[in-house]
Amino acid sequence: MTDTPADTIPDGDPFALFEAWFAEARASEPNDPNAMALATATPDGRPSVRMVLLKGHGPDGFVFYTNLTSRKGGELAANRHVALLFHWKSLRRQIRIEGAITPVTPAEADAYFASRHPESRLGSAASDQSQPLPARQVYLDRVAALRAQYPTGDVPRPAHWSGYRVRPEVIEFWHDRDYRLHERRQFVRTGNEGWTSHLLYP
Ligand SMILES: Cc1cc2nc3c(=O)[nH]c(=O)nc-3n(C[C@H](O)[C@H](O)[C@H](O)COP(=O)(O)O)c2cc1C
Repeated sequence: MTDTPADTIPDGDPFALFEAWFAEARASEPNDPNAMALATATPDGRPSVRMVLLKGHGPDGFVFYTNLTSRKGGELAANRHVALLFHWKSLRRQIRIEGAITPVTPAEADAYFASRHPESRLGSAASDQSQPLPARQVYLDRVAALRAQYPTGDVPRPAHWSGYRVRPEVIEFWHDRDYRLHERRQFVRTGNEGWTSHLLYP
């Protein structure tokens, strides 16, 4: 066993702790340190999960963008409750977040859409995300048609492409320790701004 303190995950502000762990992930992960699994569920409790990218975060919540008519979009429209999971493999850490979504404002979505690479804008505007695609060429042709229409790639944000903010109710920090004597600290929202935290058995 290494000679480290028994408890290294501090109590206090979960957002400050998220910021610190995320900064370490950005410095060490080779790809997409902002990738997170997003779990949704149908109203009758059938779950589904996929990766999305964190595109904003702070005490208001955790923001991602997507096609609102996708499978996840349909599940989110019917059930606002979600879970997020970050796993930073080389840091041997995970963060679990549970909460409910609210849509970002159109201005926020416009600003983020405009910040994307022109080809990415064309690609998302041309995609009927999650719908059956008869052949990949069909999609590529749609991208090419939009590129011809908007040669600079400045395609407007489609109304069905936007973002959601997850307002966390529970945030759990997990850190690998030797011999699987892992550390877990769970923060639970107690009011509008307040949080309480406790350790969990691994
Ligand atoms: C690392 C990574 C990041 C991704 N980021 C996003 C994203 O930010 N938004 C998105 O809609 N899909 C993203 N995807 C694709 C989704 O995982 C998924 O394939 C797509 O959104 C359709 O999911 P759905 O059919 O459940 O709606 C990403 C995939 C990976 C592997």
